[in-house]
Amino acid sequence: MFAPRITRLRPSLVREILAAAQSPGMISFAGGLPATETLYAPDWTQLQLSPQLLQYGPSEGEPQLRALVAERARHMGLDCSAEQVLILNGSQQGIDLVAKLWVSEGTRILCESPTYLAALQVFELFGADMQPGTGDAAGLLPAAVTAEQAEFAYLIPTFQNPTGLCYPAERRAALAAAFDQAGLPVFEDDPYRDLAFDGTPPAPLVAGLRAARWVYQGSFSKTLAPGLRLGYLIAHPDLLTPLTRLKQAADLHSNRLSQGIVTQVLATGALQAHLEHVLPVYRAKRDAMQAALQRELADEAEWECPAGGLFFWLRLRRPIDALALMQQGLAQGLAVMPGQPFYAQTSAPAALRLNFSHSSLAQIEAGVATLARLIRQAPALAV
Ligand SMILES: Cc1ncc(COP(=O)(O)O)c(C=O)c1O
Repeated sequence: MFAPRITRLRPSLVREILAAAQSPGMISFAGGLPATETLYAPDWTQLQLSPQLLQYGPSEGEPQLRALVAERARHMGLDCSAEQVLILNGSQQGIDLVAKLWVSEGTRILCESPTYLAALQVFELFGADMQPGTGDAAGLLPAAVTAEQAEFAYLIPTFQNPTGLCYPAERRAALAAAFDQAGLPVFEDDPYRDLAFDGTPPAPLVAGLRAARWVYQGSFSKTLAPGLRLGYLIAHPDLLTPLTRLKQAADLHSNRLSQGIVTQVLATGALQAHLEHVLPVYRAKRDAMQAALQRELADEAEWECPAGGLFFWLRLRRPIDALALMQQGLAQGLAVMPGQPFYAQTSAPAALRLNFSHSSLAQIEAGVATLARLIRQAPALAV
């Protein structure tokens, strides 16, 4: 016997592909994994973790960490106080908490199309009716924002997963005005902001809101290490009490040892130093994948070279079955992510998401060559 909502739980294709991608010799462009060699390794001899951290702690998170997160947010243009910060066990938890706060059976959520597949998974579990909005090369169109269409919006305006798109400042401002006018709350998911290869991205979209309520969230998974399971949300003051209670009901509080580590990383400036080490590595991998794709696949696919984040989004010129392509790839030692699970609707254009951070430069070369061969051999579906 299960609760009726369990029937709505999508299987996570990413987890299944990631399991296959673990096999020895497999080149994986499938997950959103940081490179193993760039994971932040604390200097254990320098770490000063108080034994107090082994005791239960506050649901909101460690006070010093909340203050440091608020300071960073103000630096990126989001005016907020430490009291508005809630520390999370990974930003995936923020999606769960916001879903519990706002989503019930039939709640309409305006989203990008495509969007983050694990957000679709959570929102749909709670009964959401996803409303993919029309977008263009600069992001969601302000005309898509109407109070009639949705009860709130879920957006990833900075190095979007899966497309890599970064909304320019003008589009953010136009959307913020549209959300204010419609009185539509905004949930901005921002885990990739610090992985910027070609200049600092514009301030968060919610920083431009004057009236609408908002939740903004970030993560330390992509910059430090996903195994820390640490993220945060910052919310409009009206939303903090219910969100904190939801957090308390879910897990009492986030892991205090991880919070202790990240507090020191932020307080000592080690995050910045780590990013200075990581960014050139990722930029070189991004450039290698761009060059390999250009050489091998320009006639079969189109894409924009991402200015940050972890992914290329390949739109295939022919209507190829991307799921079958993925299965053939696995048989030949290459894991790629088909585009379909990133869409709320059942029919979607033929696309692939390719992660460039996890593979070595040699694997990027070899993997793109294999992919090009598979795409060339794939028959076009009858449309
Ligand atoms: C858009 C987006 N949101 C949230 C998450 C969850 O990240 P984490 O829970 O590791 O902070 C991810 C992870 O890939 C993501 O791409």
